[in-house]
Amino acid sequence: MRVLLSEEAIAVRVRELGAEITADYAESDDLVLIAVMRGSMCFVADLMRAINRPLRLDYLALRSYDGIDGADVAITTALTEPLRGADVLIIEDIVDRGVTLRVAFDLVQRQEPRSIEVCTLLQKPLQPGVAEPRYAGFVVGKEFVVGYGLDYDQRYRNLPYIAVPNEADIRR
Ligand code: IMP
Ligand code: MG
Repeated sequence: MRVLLSEEAIAVRVRELGAEITADYAESDDLVLIAVMRGSMCFVADLMRAINRPLRLDYLALRSYDGIDGADVAITTALTEPLRGADVLIIEDIVDRGVTLRVAFDLVQRQEPRSIEVCTLLQKPLQPGVAEPRYAGFVVGKEFVVGYGLDYDQRYRNLPYIAVPNEADIRR
């Protein structure tokens, strides 16, 4: 496996994002982080501790099934916190085609929060029609990455760094 982003590099960037979010939401009295599970688990755990503001945490789980024309997304765990009038920050592991994010965004929007922004750890090259996240940790290439929450077939989420798997890593 080739390490793309070390544990240290991630930690530095997460602290920067936390500081930025802390400043941007200084006037907000109801910040709600919504983690898109399961990929954003490590990221949200570290990021929330880098945000020096009162906040609420909620999560939703989406499952995307790859089909011929992209993906179909199903909701497997719904939101529980009330979001009306809140400042919502959706936390994603990676934005690629933006399909998952679109579904999460629409679900949140239905509850009429005051604002909705997106914070993603990783951003693949922006595709046409995909809205740019307000906060992005790192822009990466098109290659598939694993670790720090991201999986290949449910494996490698526990790696403390982000890496590009090689052929042998993704063979059973
Ligand atoms: P999108 O809907 O195409 O933006 O993809 C979103 C979801 O696909 C992410 O939340 C990830 O769970 C998964 N995904 C996309 N690219 C990668 C990758 O390189 N490694 C692991 N998971 C990925
Ligand atoms: Mg995933």
